[in-house]
This record gives sequence, C-alpha cells and structure tokens, in this order.
Amino acid sequence: MEDLERVVADAEAAFGAITDPVELEHVKARFLGKAGVLSEASKGLGRMAPEQRKEAGQRINAAKGRVEAALAARREALAHEALEARLREEAVDVTLPGRKRGLGSIHPVIRTWQRVEEIFGSIGFDVADGPEIETDWFNFTALNQPENHPARSMHDTFYVEGGYLLRTHTSPMQVRYARMHEPPLKVIAPGRTYRVDSDATHSPMFHQVEGLWIGEDISFADLKGVYTDFLRQFFETDDLVVRFRPSFFPFTEPSAEIDMAFESGPLKGRWLEISGSGQVHPAVIRNFGLDPERYIGFAFGSGLERLTMLRYGVDDLRLFFEGDLRFLRQFA
Ligand code: FA5
Ligand code: MG
Repeated sequence: MEDLERVVADAEAAFGAITDPVELEHVKARFLGKAGVLSEASKGLGRMAPEQRKEAGQRINAAKGRVEAALAARREALAHEALEARLREEAVDVTLPGRKRGLGSIHPVIRTWQRVEEIFGSIGFDVADGPEIETDWFNFTALNQPENHPARSMHDTFYVEGGYLLRTHTSPMQVRYARMHEPPLKVIAPGRTYRVDSDATHSPMFHQVEGLWIGEDISFADLKGVYTDFLRQFFETDDLVVRFRPSFFPFTEPSAEIDMAFESGPLKGRWLEISGSGQVHPAVIRNFGLDPERYIGFAFGSGLERLTMLRYGVDDLRLFFEGDLRFLRQFA
C-alpha cells in the first residue's frame, strides 16, 4: 500500500510524456484498466481485516481519483495542442500577395477568323454559318464532284454514321447559302473543316473561310481585286505579291490556287498556298437554283491556319492545336 504514492507519480509522469491522444488511452489501461495496477491493489482488500480494509479502500480510491484527474488533464492538454496546431497550420497570411487568376486571350486562329469577318464585312459581305456534319450531296455532288473524284475516297474524308461525313471544306456553304438567299449573293462562311491529313502544314481539323460573290457581272478580275485587297488589309502591308496559279476544282472553271509571298521581312520570298478559288461552274450555279446564263461570279476557300502562320511567322501549324501556353501567350 505504501507504493500508491509511487503509482500516482508514475501515472502522472507516463501521461505527461505522451503526445499522441491514442497512445494516452493505451497507457491509461496500465493504471486504470481491469488488469491495471490499481485494480490489482483492490483485489487484495478482501483478505484484510475490516478495519484495515476500510482505510486501504479509501486510499486506493483517492489514488484512483488522482490518476483519473491526471488523465483528464492530459487529455485536455493534448486536445488543446491539436487545436492550436491546426489553427497555426490554417492561418491565413494576409500580408501575402493575392493569387491572380490568369487573363485568357483569343486563340491566334480565332483572331484571324475575326479579322477576316471584319475585313470582308467592311466591303459588304454577309457572314454565314453552317453544319460541320454534312451530307454527301452538299459536300460533293452539288459541287459537281463526280462519284469517282479522289476527294471522296476514304483516304481524305472522315465518314460518320448514318451516311453523313465531316465536311472536308466550307464549299457546301456556297450551296446552302445560295438556296436560301436571292442574288446578288455576297457572303463569307468561316468554320471548321476535317480531313484525314497530318503534317507541318496539314491538320485533321482545320479552318477555312469560304467566299462567294454571285451577280450578273461578277468576273475573275473582281476575284483578283477583292482577294488581293483583302490580303493587303489582313497583313497590313502592300509589300506582298499574289499569284493566281492555274489549277483544277470540279466546282470552278477556270480555277486557281492563290499563293502569296512577302516582298520584305523575315518571310521574304517564301511562297505559300493559302486558298483555292475560281469562277463558279455553271453546273454549280444550277444547283444553287439559279440560271447560269444569267448569273456568274467567283468563289474562294482559304485556310485560316495558313493565313495565321504567315501573319505571325509560325512554321508548324500543329502548334496551334497543342494548347501549349508558352506558345499561345505570345499572341495574348
Ligand atoms: C478546297 O478546299 C476548295 N474547297 C477551295 C475552293 C473554294 C476552291 C471555292 C474554289 C472555290 P483545297 O483543298 O486546296 O481547296 O483547300 C483550300 C485551302 O485550305 C488550302 O489552300 C489550305 O490553305 C487549306 N488547307 C487544306 N487542307 C488543309 C489541312 N489539312 N490543314 C490546314 N489547312 C488546309
Ligand atoms: Mg489546294
């Protein structure tokens, strides 16, 4: 019984040394549990004389009370420390500079799209929009492309379910627009186009802008004038040369690829094809629902990525679609 004082002192020391609340509960068992020191001491009471038993029982209870008090105090201290630590951890340093939310910017190809709309809009062209999932008829047949035309092969075209395809160019918009409007027709139709194609100057998804001007006296000379003037405004320079290179499209006759090169600057002298063009074929005018004896005009279809590459001196168009912020920030 003499060592009850020691038991209390041991318990106080043991509890005080513990910093983990779970551990504290384990150590508690050593003193207060069923097989703990104090319970063991109580078991000896039954063998004592009644006088002694009473006094010893009181002393054991008193010791138990002190151990329980020490335990409760330690529990409270640990809970308090945990709270303090959490508060310290979650403290907000109001002197830190705020976290800025990055300002977004317009993608360079979309910027080109917008500029093309502004420039053609300023000379009276309407802007039209149409479906990217097209029928074979609008994408090919109506544009005078015979069944065996290579552009129809699986190699170039993404076919989708239900007999539809992803439009391979914006030219179907010529037909869609013409069938819904009265001439004169003067419109551009920018948008996404798709081909099974991938290298530094070809991407499976790219953008074109279709142009169409149909009236009773719109000539190839008008095409040259309008397009050359567009390029000068787009690149903000007269220092460029434009070449209408004879070519073939089933939907135009005559047809020309439009190439351009700068006469000064870092890209001086490098030719790049930016557009197909030509006088709209009489068979296509007929598919517009118009009389080819009366209506005549031109169309073009230009690559927006190509225009963007030339404007900013980018030599691989795949950079436009990688989403690399280091690249895109340069245009912000
Ligand atoms: C056509 O798509 C014709 N529809 C253009 C046209 C319209 C001709 C109206 C006559 C009258 P072409 O396949 O050449 O033509 O493509 C036109 C332009 O789109 C090209 O000059 C090029 O700038 C761009 N282009 C074509 N394929 C890709 C591609 N995979 N990736 C990026 N740009 C492309
Ligand atoms: Mg071409």
